[in-house]
Amino acid sequence: MQTKIEKISPLSALAVNNIQEVSQNGIDFLSFREKLSYANISRDDKKIEWKGARVAIKSALDCISLPYPGFFKDEHGKSHPMDGYGYVSLTHTKGIAAAIFHKDMPVGIDLDYVREKVVRLGPKFLDPSEIEFLNNDPILYTVAWSAKESIFKCQGRRGISLKSNILLDPFSLDDHVIKGRVYQSEYSDHFYNVKVEVENDIVLTYTIW
Ligand SMILES: CC(C)(COP(=O)(O)OP(=O)(O)OC[C@H]1O[C@@H](n2cnc3c(N)ncnc32)[C@H](O)[C@@H]1OP(=O)(O)O)[C@@H](O)C(=O)NCCC(=O)NCCS
Repeated sequence: MQTKIEKISPLSALAVNNIQEVSQNGIDFLSFREKLSYANISRDDKKIEWKGARVAIKSALDCISLPYPGFFKDEHGKSHPMDGYGYVSLTHTKGIAAAIFHKDMPVGIDLDYVREKVVRLGPKFLDPSEIEFLNNDPILYTVAWSAKESIFKCQGRRGISLKSNILLDPFSLDDHVIKGRVYQSEYSDHFYNVKVEVENDIVLTYTIW
């Protein structure tokens, strides 16, 4: 997937980084606490992914002229700005990282490689009604997985099951926005629009407002 920085609205931006391209970037912009977290990651590949996501959020913030506030994690693992303004979501996988920021609304973002085995794993994260419209297609399954992960990250709380508490409306490869909702939980009837971008074997999804 191409590296990009995109202004979604005056209040929101996202960035996608090819991790190799940002491997030489410095980390001076990180907060003291973040520098400590970074230093404590033992595996080199995980370290570079972690940094890739922070360089991405820095680029997204630059794009809407906001300073980098530093981020802390809550008890669920979700990051929040240290100055209390806005919402962030991060994702990273082999070779690629992305981040999204919105000044007023919660956000979720996810990146995944398309893998054949996702179809076999479908019953673990899909409702039978979703399996019906996914046609055993690994790309559609990966989009469904990624969209549910983006919704999960947007709501942010552990204990929400991708299979039992997040339901997607039917969609096809022609759809660039899919709809989903959280149900059968104390956060029921939260509705989400998820933007979908598929490039070669990579799926990017993120919540939009
Ligand atoms: C937390 C979770 C969303 C992370 O997703 P992932 O695909 O492993 O990894 P990603 O790179 O896309 O995202 C990692 C980022 O998610 C963020 N994150 C972690 N927990 C989070 C939460 N509860 N809410 C929002 N964001 C969260 C973190 O910023 C993390 O990056 P960091 O560690 O560098 O700070 C995922 O592990 C998870 O729990 N998914 C849903 C649960 C589930 O039902 N899984 C199994 C179904 S079969």
